[in-house]
Amino acid sequence: MSEKHLETALITAGRNKRYTQGSVNSVIQRASSLVFESVSAKKQATAGRATGELFYGRRGTLTHFSLQEAMCELEGGAGCALFPCGAAAVANTILAFVEQGDHILVTRTAYEPTQDLCTKILSRLGVTTSWFDPLAGADIAKLVRPETRIVFLESPGSITMEVHDVPAIVKAVREKAPNAIIMMDNTWSAGVLFKALDFGVDISIQAGTKYLIGHSDAMVGTAVSNARCWEQLRENAYLMGQMVDADTAYMTSRGLRTLGVRLKQHQESSIAVATWLQQHPAVERVNHPALPGSKGHEFWKRDFTGCSGLFSFILKKRLSEAEFAHFLDNFSHFSMAYSWGGFESLILANQPEEIAAIRPESEVDFTGTLVRVHIGLENVSDLIDDLAAGLERIG
Ligand SMILES: Cc1ncc(COP(=O)(O)O)c(C=O)c1O
Repeated sequence: MSEKHLETALITAGRNKRYTQGSVNSVIQRASSLVFESVSAKKQATAGRATGELFYGRRGTLTHFSLQEAMCELEGGAGCALFPCGAAAVANTILAFVEQGDHILVTRTAYEPTQDLCTKILSRLGVTTSWFDPLAGADIAKLVRPETRIVFLESPGSITMEVHDVPAIVKAVREKAPNAIIMMDNTWSAGVLFKALDFGVDISIQAGTKYLIGHSDAMVGTAVSNARCWEQLRENAYLMGQMVDADTAYMTSRGLRTLGVRLKQHQESSIAVATWLQQHPAVERVNHPALPGSKGHEFWKRDFTGCSGLFSFILKKRLSEAEFAHFLDNFSHFSMAYSWGGFESLILANQPEEIAAIRPESEVDFTGTLVRVHIGLENVSDLIDDLAAGLERIG
């Protein structure tokens, strides 16, 4: 991101004159066909079709190019592939690099559909998966094999929020399998609070559905790649027909402009709520990367420049079915819904055995009900009051 401050880069990234054409924001260029004025113009478009010439809708229009350039600037990449959602970004980025007989290493705390991709789809293609402990650090070396093709990170881990020691993992993988591609689901940091590529990760993937869009009303996936992997990722994504429509690309760029202030508020409020929960008698443990005691907190402190609004906490008791529903059904400000990263607060809960079921080859180390919250942009004392009333209901 050169020397620009993040807040400034978020405002200016991708807004060059070719894309804005006299307005503040990038134009929305909706197109399948892009018309060539002459045979030589067609030749030029064909030669430059992968590098920013207008060629055909599936290769992108000015709206997409603007977003791609912005993402590259923000995450320090050589190229950015766009996908219709985060799951498509994860699946297609992995599929771009594997072939039959390969082995991939995936964190045990990966988002559940990422795990399912490995067990239900990659397995059919003759690609085997092993799982690593999110806190493995340099010990990951024990699992790296000569045929290991991909190491897939997600930090913090899905639901339980463990932060990896990425530099230690990268060093160990590079020593044992120099050709392995290291990719990371970097959604929690919005790609800007942890600069994955600066830490030696090859490809930083985001469900832009969360913080980039920021308003829970559209879906997009991004994969920002270093120069080593860009061509292969770009061409595979293209052949797999992966693209997003121009309107959604526009909304993603629009989301970037307020991302800095939104993240600041998510950080401030989520730390306030998490700190309040830590001293609540009904709470056993708070899994918030910015709080001491959360697993991998020291790596968050060392490597991240901030935190977002998603974290979880574990209750001392396992709620009965009736308590579970009474707790969740009666919040005023927290809605129950999948996803996160929007302006609104959300809540979901899981029993320990449900988490254990999505932790391959490991067990959970808690017995109480786990609650995951996304802290939105509401007034923080309203949110704390709402949670206090919720905990009272099950007291
Ligand atoms: C960490 C993480 N990665 C990827 C995804 C998938 O994103 P999408 O819902 O846009 O497909 C999600 C969705 O919840 C997620 O939480």
